[in-house]
Amino acid sequence: MKKRILTGITTTGTPHIGNYIGAIRPAIEMTKDSDESFFFLADYHSIIKNQDSDSIKNSVKNVALAWLSSGLDPNKSYFYKQSDVPEIIELCWILNCVTAKGLMNRAHAYKAATSINENDPDKGITMGLFSYPVLMAADILMFDSTHVPVGSDQVQHLEMTRDIAARFNHLYKPILTLPDPIIQDKENVVPGLDGRKMSKSYGNVIPLLESEKILKKSVMKIVTNSLEPGEPKDSSDCTIFSLFKNFVDDSEMKSIQKAYDEGIAWGEAKEMLFNSINDELEPIRLKFEELKEDNDYINDLLSDGAKKARDIAKDKIFQIKEAIGITKIS
Ligand code: TRP
Repeated sequence: MKKRILTGITTTGTPHIGNYIGAIRPAIEMTKDSDESFFFLADYHSIIKNQDSDSIKNSVKNVALAWLSSGLDPNKSYFYKQSDVPEIIELCWILNCVTAKGLMNRAHAYKAATSINENDPDKGITMGLFSYPVLMAADILMFDSTHVPVGSDQVQHLEMTRDIAARFNHLYKPILTLPDPIIQDKENVVPGLDGRKMSKSYGNVIPLLESEKILKKSVMKIVTNSLEPGEPKDSSDCTIFSLFKNFVDDSEMKSIQKAYDEGIAWGEAKEMLFNSINDELEPIRLKFEELKEDNDYINDLLSDGAKKARDIAKDKIFQIKEAIGITKIS
């Protein structure tokens, strides 16, 4: 069977280097040994928690640019906006009709949202949030994806996708493909400036697409202990050291370890880290600067991507509708 990878990128905010290391770079790398790859901007997912239309619009652009600038080749992958493939939403409804409500009650994201409510557990909870995993299942099953790269927080959604697909296949006809997750952050949690996981919600991110100057300023803000230059530094549980690992090879890591043992000054370690990160990000930044002025180019590229994706989706939704009895009268 063909190996078809697919992953969705929720369009909130502007990608940071945690997204780059954890999702963008490995996904692009993975396209090299897959028969086909699908990357899409999950804009319908992004409206679940964000009702600010300007911020949605900006995010879609920035996220698209981040992927393209980082080396995603739209000629070798399917790259599209979820909202440009309406068959996904048709499938979402069909799947809603075979998904047990009890299954959705167990979703982590929904449970986390209800658990902070005191009197009314459903306060502030929309049907969108509740049935989010069904939309994700539709994204995946629409294209017979075999492998889905995701963060560990999404593994439960993949299990739900498999459950939903199996239920459909049992009720109707075995035409949906059960996907396998590829867990991307298994061993590698990228630390942010304060040492906690890099995340926009912690305000500890290092930007991907900002100028060299801002990048440097950000790296210089990494929190360290107060050991003086000349005092040996412990590389375990060190934010700078963990970040280095994502940008340099093993032999360079050895000399960095040696510098730690010999008591490198934190300022110098940060300077070196900045240079390593900057070497990799410079071409990405240049590409971003070049593309960001050209909205027509991005719009055309996405609409081409959607056209190609829809060719597949239309076929599939036809089969699915036939299986459930929504078809020509005969
Ligand atoms: N929910 C995913 C996230 O927040 C994004 C996403 C939407 C996705 N649809 C998908 C990921 C389908 C993989 C496959 O990260």
